[in-house]
Amino acid sequence: VFKKAIPISEAIKLSTGYVTVRGWVYRKRVLKEKVFVVLRDSTGIIQLVFPRDRFKIAEELNIESSIVVSGLLVKEPRAPGGVELHVESIDWVYIGEPYPINEDAVTADSEYLLDVRHLWLRSRKMQAVLKIRHTVFEALHHYFRKNGFYEVQAPMFITAAVEGGATLFRVDYFGRPVYLTQSSQFYLEALIYSLEKVYTIAPSFRAEPSRTRRHLTEFWHAEMEMAWASMEDAARVGEEVISYTVEKVLQERGEELKLLGRKTEALEKAKPPFYRVSYDEAIEILRKKGLNINWGDDIGADEERALTLEFDKPIILYGFPEKLKAFYHRNNPQRPEVTLSFDVLLPEGYGEVIGGGERIYDAKELIDKIIRFGLNPEDYQWYIDLRRYGSVPHSGFGLGVDRLVMWITGADHIRDVVPFPRDIRRTKP
Ligand code: 4AD
Ligand code: MG
Repeated sequence: VFKKAIPISEAIKLSTGYVTVRGWVYRKRVLKEKVFVVLRDSTGIIQLVFPRDRFKIAEELNIESSIVVSGLLVKEPRAPGGVELHVESIDWVYIGEPYPINEDAVTADSEYLLDVRHLWLRSRKMQAVLKIRHTVFEALHHYFRKNGFYEVQAPMFITAAVEGGATLFRVDYFGRPVYLTQSSQFYLEALIYSLEKVYTIAPSFRAEPSRTRRHLTEFWHAEMEMAWASMEDAARVGEEVISYTVEKVLQERGEELKLLGRKTEALEKAKPPFYRVSYDEAIEILRKKGLNINWGDDIGADEERALTLEFDKPIILYGFPEKLKAFYHRNNPQRPEVTLSFDVLLPEGYGEVIGGGERIYDAKELIDKIIRFGLNPEDYQWYIDLRRYGSVPHSGFGLGVDRLVMWITGADHIRDVVPFPRDIRRTKP
């Protein structure tokens, strides 16, 4: 009996004939002789019309009750999609309890919607975001695979910090401390000696002590590493993978972007080449705008925002001072106070989505820098080992997938684009 049901979007397209559809009650209106129900499934919505005398049960359908119905499709310009279904039989029904999410709850308190995220996922807004997220992951995999990168997997339990000790999550591992990975980078670096070009898309974990619009404690990280590659080579992959992904979403998810009210001009413009702006130039631009910032200072969220508002495309911001970036970045041999590092900043105030650059390939240079940074070379024994046996210049980056989805969908908050977000306060649902 369930097999014959067709997707609601298909029923809307058909617009005439006898069909079976199934889904969940999205809206309900009880009139004198009829009950109007808007039904939703994963593909769309359709208006159902129940004659009250024949279907007493239609009055009892609470929001999100599930139902399978058959009937005749009829053109009706006032109905969503211009079609309604005149119900002739109810083939299956499950009356839900009164649904805890209503319009008041939606507008009142965003924390409430996070508390009931397991139910809020059914909203049309979350459906649209999740479909765009699906397309983003697909496009990332496509891009890397089409361009000669092998997909690899790295462990989540680790013992050496990649991005500094402050944001490590400690886990009890049979009585000894280990950590959750902040980045798969060191493992990708080991794998380039086998496969030359590698990528992975996996969770990364950061014990981020503050709740901001762009930080999670668990996020999805798309990382790549290439042998025989410079910072500029990695930057080029960065701009290409972003523009490829955005283009895919524009092609395949126009309806969802529209449902979210996302204006697409900035997305359409995000084609290579992105602007190259050096750290030095960025400081100058920011100072001219009246910001109180000096050479050597970090470019934080506010500065990034100010900077991106000056440009109509993503920016590749490169050449950060040594002390602003992790120890593994190679210093510029012509100008040792800066590194061959870059970030990609997304426009419209969104800011950093990629961090990467060229890695130190020389064993002695790496050990010296580890010591200069107050770290212990013993903690990085196998990472240093990679430089002992046929080291090569190499570069790579990490891209925050949730941040990319955030910009593409135009979301105000990173939590809005992750099905079950994790931050300092939230580990449920
Ligand atoms: O700039 P990050 O810290 O760089 C690294 O982890 C490098 N080891 C990556 C590499 O070269 N393989 O992180 C990379 C990106 C950031 O640009 C940001 O988009 C995202 O990861 N990211 C976060 N996204 C959400 N929540 C957080 N707490 C994030 N921390 C980083
Ligand atoms: Mg970074």
